[in-house]
Amino acid sequence: MLLPVRYLVVGAGGHAQEVAWSLVEHERLRGERTEVLFFDDALPTGPLPSGLGPVAGPLDAIADHADRRQTRLVLGVGLPGLKMRLTARVASLGLAWTTVVHPRAVIGPNVEIGPGSYVAADAIVTVNVRLGAFTTVNTHAQVAHDGIVGTYATLHPNAHVAGNVRIGDGAELGTGAVVLPGLTVGVGAVLGAGGVALRALDAGVTYVGVPARPVRRTRRRSA
Ligand SMILES: CC(C)(COP(=O)(O)OP(=O)(O)OC[C@H]1O[C@@H](n2cnc3c(N)ncnc32)[C@H](O)[C@@H]1OP(=O)(O)O)[C@@H](O)C(=O)NCCC(=O)NCCS
Repeated sequence: MLLPVRYLVVGAGGHAQEVAWSLVEHERLRGERTEVLFFDDALPTGPLPSGLGPVAGPLDAIADHADRRQTRLVLGVGLPGLKMRLTARVASLGLAWTTVVHPRAVIGPNVEIGPGSYVAADAIVTVNVRLGAFTTVNTHAQVAHDGIVGTYATLHPNAHVAGNVRIGDGAELGTGAVVLPGLTVGVGAVLGAGGVALRALDAGVTYVGVPARPVRRTRRRSA
């Protein structure tokens, strides 16, 4: 009998468990069996409350479980800076990254989703959209037509991106943030929860409010 595909989840916090749940739901509908193991430097080994799988060890322990062909990595963190650091830490293992799309996400035609990305339940990505590698489109977030979302960028729950918007690498749109049509969000820019961008957002700057105004240069947050 074929062994189940083994998914090694980088991170084991609440977000990691949401990603794993989405993956398991997707694979269950396809009739695939899965084995999920979580890795996190900050959590003890043992079962997780969601029952999705155990914490098998810190990140460095991934190497001990990467011994078979049917083994894939899953990115279980959502903040751009953390995504960059953790993907760099496991890059030398050479394992493939899984793209996780919850079966209740709505994905239109001509949409590309890069490896290691996550599109959550009730997210909508309409038509002619490019999501780069390691992007996050969380629950109820929307990316409208002809959008480009750069590598490592994150749309938190309910963030709405209008048509023809370009989101730079590593940018972050907080919960309920809105970007109006045709705008550019610079590399590493942050739009805080509930903010509405009426103009282009400069690279590396944090904005809040309606209309969005700069707070200060973005410092990379780690949690
Ligand atoms: C914008 C954000 C990144 C700033 O975080 P930070 O760098 O830690 O900044 P601070 O909390 O020190 O706030 C800086 C200032 O901006 C204000 N501010 C922060 N977030 C704001 C927001 N969303 N809307 C309006 N003002 C906000 C603070 O009140 C503070 O104002 P002050 O200088 O007058 O006191 C953060 O507040 C935010 O909104 N993050 C989005 C997180 C999110 O949506 N997560 C979803 C997880 S599922």
